[in-house]
Amino acid sequence: MRTLIKHVLAATEPQAAVTVKGWVRTRRDAKGFSFLELNDGSCLASLQVVVDAGTPGAEQLPKLTTGASAVVAGKLVSSPAAGQKWELRATRLELVGVADASYPLQKKGHTAEFLRTIAHLRPRSNLYGAVFRVRSRLAFAVHQFFQERDFVYVHTPIITASDCEGAGEMFRVTALKGNPDEKPQADFFGRPTYLTVSGQLEGESFACALSNIYTFGPTFRAENSNTARHAAEFWMIEPEMAFCDLPGDMDLGEEFIKAMAKYAQEQCAEDLALFARFVDKGLPERLKFVLERPFVRVPYGQAIELLTQSGKQFEFPVAYGQNLQSEHERFLTEEHFKSPVTVFNFPRLIKPFYMRLNDDGQTVAAMDVLVPGIGEVIGGAQREERLEQLHDNLRFHQLRPEDYWWYVDLRRYGTVPHAGFGLGFERLLMFLTGVANIRDVIPFARTPGNAEF
Ligand code: 4AD
Ligand code: MG
Repeated sequence: MRTLIKHVLAATEPQAAVTVKGWVRTRRDAKGFSFLELNDGSCLASLQVVVDAGTPGAEQLPKLTTGASAVVAGKLVSSPAAGQKWELRATRLELVGVADASYPLQKKGHTAEFLRTIAHLRPRSNLYGAVFRVRSRLAFAVHQFFQERDFVYVHTPIITASDCEGAGEMFRVTALKGNPDEKPQADFFGRPTYLTVSGQLEGESFACALSNIYTFGPTFRAENSNTARHAAEFWMIEPEMAFCDLPGDMDLGEEFIKAMAKYAQEQCAEDLALFARFVDKGLPERLKFVLERPFVRVPYGQAIELLTQSGKQFEFPVAYGQNLQSEHERFLTEEHFKSPVTVFNFPRLIKPFYMRLNDDGQTVAAMDVLVPGIGEVIGGAQREERLEQLHDNLRFHQLRPEDYWWYVDLRRYGTVPHAGFGLGFERLLMFLTGVANIRDVIPFARTPGNAEF
């Protein structure tokens, strides 16, 4: 029976017989015995294995080089070495798979850029092992957060015919050879179809039946922006609440971010300590900060004034009616307010058709949550629930109501005020780990020009 190293290391007393399976990090030979550092990814720490020369299997030691896989049975005894409680005294050693000198993870301190070129092996490094364990734990925490609050998990489709965000950044899905635009009606679905940019529209349909729902799934955008926070394939979490307005939406978004920071702090402490040492010294402070400070809420118009009056030279000009750029967002959260910021009530023109028009006739009930180090992590809105106004919004954005007939129907039959948001899971992970590039928090990043693995 195999025991995971994390459980072996958590032992409270010596064990007469344990078997571990993993990959060799290092081997050191001394006179009459050898040390192996064995890691199985179950936790950051490796297990020190001591192999005496006469141990069955010890003749394979020369082949147990960095990267090789092995099974070791032995006795768990308290370790005389500093910094570790336990070590394994091998009673039997078995080489499973060799790794020759070409194994690329030989030494410590590879650059993130290099490790991206070996994305198939990088989870075996300390840092990426930690990142992907945290990713898994946080995915669980996302479900726990919503399930505890009676939100229903909805699997919205990945193939869709509608451009929710209206930004035209969609990947085409087709079964046709040649140009699919020539005869879309002959295509598999009888119409042009795409990979979804958001599950929101379908999510609204379910919220208007099950009250509170959320989605959590892969999302695709063909935006050709080669930045550290954009990926072509990412995971989005989209809650949607019936009988909810914009302030209620902002409350949920802020509570959610705080809950995730708290979960990471409490449940991923060993891995977070690694990030604080090697990735981002300010991480513990930042998490504490987010937990303790209220989020500042500021209307878009006021945010523009603050940016204009800041006297800062931005690369992108600041003007009312323009989208906030990453540098503007980061100024607001990192320099001006020094806290997470929720910007709300954006100009109608720069936001999608589904957002609710405010009484001023100029702005919509939108919100973006900005956090230090990242900028926008959440984008959301109260939805336009009034039938006539939704028709007007569609015309305003030059969309055809007949293309959205089923979405419009939700306003025809028992319409209710409702609101929701989308949160990029990778951006949340960047925020919680301090890892600065989105390519390093997703197992196999999809960015322009990159789909190797
Ligand atoms: O602000 P966005 O575009 O909002 C929506 O898609 C809404 N339909 C969500 C809703 O109200 N249900 O995207 C939401 C979030 C962003 O704040 C960002 O965190 C993330 O999704 N995001 C991306 N993350 C990684 N790579 C990309 N290319 C992303 N585009 C958006
Ligand atoms: Mg947005």
